[in-house]
Amino acid sequence: MNKRLITLLLAAGIAVIFVATGLHAGTEVKDTFTMETDGYKKRKKAPPKYNLVEFTHAKHAADYKISCGECHHDKEGKALDIKMGDDVQGCGECHNKFKKDKKNKKDIMVHENAMHKNCIACHKAFNKEKGDPKGMKGPAPASCGKCHTKIKKK
Ligand code: HEC
Ligand code: HEC
Ligand code: HEC
Ligand code: HEC
Repeated sequence: MNKRLITLLLAAGIAVIFVATGLHAGTEVKDTFTMETDGYKKRKKAPPKYNLVEFTHAKHAADYKISCGECHHDKEGKALDIKMGDDVQGCGECHNKFKKDKKNKKDIMVHENAMHKNCIACHKAFNKEKGDPKGMKGPAPASCGKCHTKIKKK
């Protein structure tokens, strides 16, 4: 192999590494997905009760016209000004407790509490706007069974 070819191959190799790490940093996002919640499976005493919730990410951002910063924020909780293709951390990277703390049931760093506060608060407000006084009924799911289906015991 001549020197030029080797240099070219090296350059190509480096380019591949850049692309791969770029993807890993969370620049890609599927239109619909379930949340990465390996954390639930790792709990020793309490296995997950429910199948993972399907979240229509693209619909929420585009059709329901919700700005990214309503859901995505930095380590102080300050809304992020981001666009598709930017590096974005998953919620579970910070809300990384996967078990409720009996002494501090509302601890927002617990993943399920962060999800419930984010998802349900907005859904209730939306349903109220649509005419349901309690916000539990309407187009946006607000009661447990509308988001969760139980995992069947074998
Ligand atoms: C209604 C709430 C909501 C809105 C609005 C929203 N997102 Fe998200 N986004 C989420 C949730 C929840 C996840 C899943 C994170 C996880 O798996 O922990 C996510 C994941 C992502 C990811 C993948 C992160 C990873 O872990 O790889 C990217 C990138 C992203 N969003 C970008 C955006 C951008 C850009 C916008 C605005 C155009 C936006 N999001 C709007 C809630 C939202
Ligand atoms: C708007 C949808 C939504 C509603 C309504 C909702 N949840 Fe959740 N819940 C989630 C999401 C999202 C998660 C994170 C795990 C996942 O992605 O499936 C979660 C996680 C959980 C977990 C931890 C995971 C597990 O299997 O142990 C429990 C327990 C739970 N929810 C119970 C409830 C209960 C009880 C209610 C009613 C009071 C409720 N949820 C209402 C969306 C919802
Ligand atoms: C970089 C770390 C980080 C990431 C990533 C992150 N959060 Fe948070 N979040 C925090 C911190 C820290 C707080 C507490 C801020 C405070 O004390 O006011 C918080 C607070 C919250 C709250 C409570 C806000 C309130 O008004 O009370 C909700 C709900 C929430 N996060 C949901 C989410 C969701 C949903 C995602 C993913 C789309 C997410 N977080 C991603 C760090 C993070
Ligand atoms: C800032 C507001 C807002 C937040 C935050 C939000 N949603 Fe929604 N969501 C909506 C609205 C609005 C609708 C109903 C729109 C309609 O049908 O007219 C909806 C509908 C839904 C639906 C049923 C229709 C569909 O698109 O699948 C599901 C499931 C859902 N949301 C899950 C979630 C989950 C899970 C979260 C938290 C990770 C979340 N949402 C966070 C506003 C929000």
